Amino acid sequence: MRRLRTQVVIVGAGPSGLLLSHLLSLRGVDSIVVERRSREYVEQRVRAGLLEQGTVDLLRQAGLADRLDREGLVHEGFELRFDGSQHRLPFAELTGWTTCMYGQQEVVKDLIKARAAAGGQLYFGIEDVAPLDVETDAPRVRCTVQGEPMEIIGDFVAGCDGFHGVCRHSVPTGALTTYEHAYPFAWLGILASAAPSTEELIYAVHEGGFALHSMRSPTISRLYLQVGPAEPLADWPDDRIWAELRTRFALHGQEVLNEGPILSRSVTAMRSFVVEPMQYRRLFLAGDAAHIVPPSAAKGLNLAVADVRHLAAAFTAWYADGSRELLDGYSRACLAAVWQGQEFSAFMTSLLHRFPAEDDYAVKLRQARLRDLVTSRAAATAFAEHYVGLARARLAGAIGERQSSPRTRAGTAGGSTHQA
Ligand code: APR
Ligand code: PHB
Repeated sequence: MRRLRTQVVIVGAGPSGLLLSHLLSLRGVDSIVVERRSREYVEQRVRAGLLEQGTVDLLRQAGLADRLDREGLVHEGFELRFDGSQHRLPFAELTGWTTCMYGQQEVVKDLIKARAAAGGQLYFGIEDVAPLDVETDAPRVRCTVQGEPMEIIGDFVAGCDGFHGVCRHSVPTGALTTYEHAYPFAWLGILASAAPSTEELIYAVHEGGFALHSMRSPTISRLYLQVGPAEPLADWPDDRIWAELRTRFALHGQEVLNEGPILSRSVTAMRSFVVEPMQYRRLFLAGDAAHIVPPSAAKGLNLAVADVRHLAAAFTAWYADGSRELLDGYSRACLAAVWQGQEFSAFMTSLLHRFPAEDDYAVKLRQARLRDLVTSRAAATAFAEHYVGLARARLAGAIGERQSSPRTRAGTAGGSTHQA
């Protein structure tokens, strides 16, 4: 049996595990990452692509934003369509913060490149990861690497292995409480080789179901359709997808939806999940391993980054001077943000979707809520603060840093520059 020693054993090379490994290495803390899938697989996995400004800032501070700054599309507002009319929600004007469209798999590619360049230890294609002794001071991960049994011993294990991972399940029954909710619909998402039809995102509320127009680059569109909860992809040939998108985005009949070859397609279940606490002794859970949200508000990646920011600081403090305060407070600090993200994601999901069993009364209430959002500046501002991540920054007490930024201080609206 081959034995390796490190400080933090990280399970999972998604955004959470890779970013944690990168931030730790910047602060002189050693880690080893073990990932079930191949490098190619994790680099190609298509997921959401909306980065809050705070997420962009963190990636930039960590030296990870060269390509993001060149290719990311900075947004200052989005369009909301309902009841045959269109409205703009100018979130940058309302909050001073922008969002950036940049695919999650691009973030993953940039992270892997940075880890590889720094000589980071990443093991891909490891299918039998087993966390052991997480309740002791020497937790381990056992696995097989190229046919050879291997044990990685660390001071801590970071479970960054997503919703279907193994780390959460290595905690004794009864030590964790889970909270879950499943929605009676799913999202069919496509990536199309077509220039985005508009510069900003379009959230379309339609009696046939919700649709979202998003993008990844000036030549790639990302589109979503609300569909049934277990809809087979085979039921959705290209023609049907485009016809349904045209119907749900239609306003006055003359809008053009740019179409092109479909590069990838998938159906994503809509569910919410939280585990409490996000720690068991020397095992710390981060990102999708601890919580998932329906994709409506694109909070999944941004919440994962928020966890990792806390966890990297907590490990760093522990190695710097043996301080346990941040480690002990990790779960509490993250869960406040997690539940805020859960609430906003659930709110946005119910605002945008048609529920299968709903009555006309529910439909009318939703229309009233939508009207409120586009006619009340106070309602729009509260919504925008959550959408761009400002509400979470306030919760974390990080707002002091922000308030000194030139743009927020001047209260300027509509600028599109990133701020470091
Ligand atoms: N052993 C090793 N790796 C594993 C195991 C396992 N048993 N199980 C899962 N993994 C890997 C997955 O293959 C994946 O690469 O862990 C990684 C988890 O990555 P994600 O699911 O992407 O989760 P996370 O890194 O927390 O990213 C946050 O934001 O937009 C959301 O859901 C979206 O992935 C996104 C998330
Ligand atoms: C995406 O582009 O994947 C996206 C954008 C905004 C959302 C959800 C998903 O609210």
